[in-house]
Amino acid sequence: MLYFLVKRHLGKRKMKITYYGQSCFLFEMGGTNVLLDPFISPNPLASEIDIDSISCDYILLSHGHADHVADAEYLLKKTGATLVATFEIVTWYQKKGIENVHSMNTGGKVHLPFGTVKMVNAIHSSSLPDGSYAGSAAGFVIQSADKTFYYAGDTALHLDMKLIGERYHLDFALLPIGDNFTMDVEDALVAANYVNTKKIIGMHYDTFPYIEIDHVEALELARRQQKELILMEIGQTIEL
Ligand code: NI
Ligand code: MN
Repeated sequence: MLYFLVKRHLGKRKMKITYYGQSCFLFEMGGTNVLLDPFISPNPLASEIDIDSISCDYILLSHGHADHVADAEYLLKKTGATLVATFEIVTWYQKKGIENVHSMNTGGKVHLPFGTVKMVNAIHSSSLPDGSYAGSAAGFVIQSADKTFYYAGDTALHLDMKLIGERYHLDFALLPIGDNFTMDVEDALVAANYVNTKKIIGMHYDTFPYIEIDHVEALELARRQQKELILMEIGQTIEL
């Protein structure tokens, strides 16, 4: 009995999450560093971040827009990290000389050393910085030994999120809250209900005038719905 209690307790280790602005996060899962949607050097809000200080083993891209991929080529080449993205995005990076890749598509899952990554749908557009077709925009459900979480990418609120709530026990979800290009806070709170989590890390806000939000109002809206909305500082690391 004690063994199971201890195992259960140890089964979910804490995970380190660092925020680099817009929708870019570094997740430390076991000994593996996974970076999502790197847009750092062109982001004036992230001017304090030295991208050369970032070490990563995998880079996952939710879609091809510049505010998600701006630093991907540089970091892939510098770190030798493996790129995980749609077939179209991967093909585009292969032409730029990126060799460590894993391509997938919506609905598919891959087992990687840190856990499984399932590519789920997002309602959004997707093209690469030169206008090339990038496939569908996507989100990810990531299951590691430490935690299970949903990274929504850029998306509208959609009912398919309920499938995620049915199929997974999420510890938290990273949801866009900046409105205009994606969900706003109110939609994100509905999304949190659909995916069945109380813990939301906000993303895709404040970077441009179109997506500036009122933090106090957003936090109050979440509080009233008994949700924990986390608005991380750029450069901050938290453990969940
Ligand atoms: Ni986008
Ligand atoms: Mn975006």
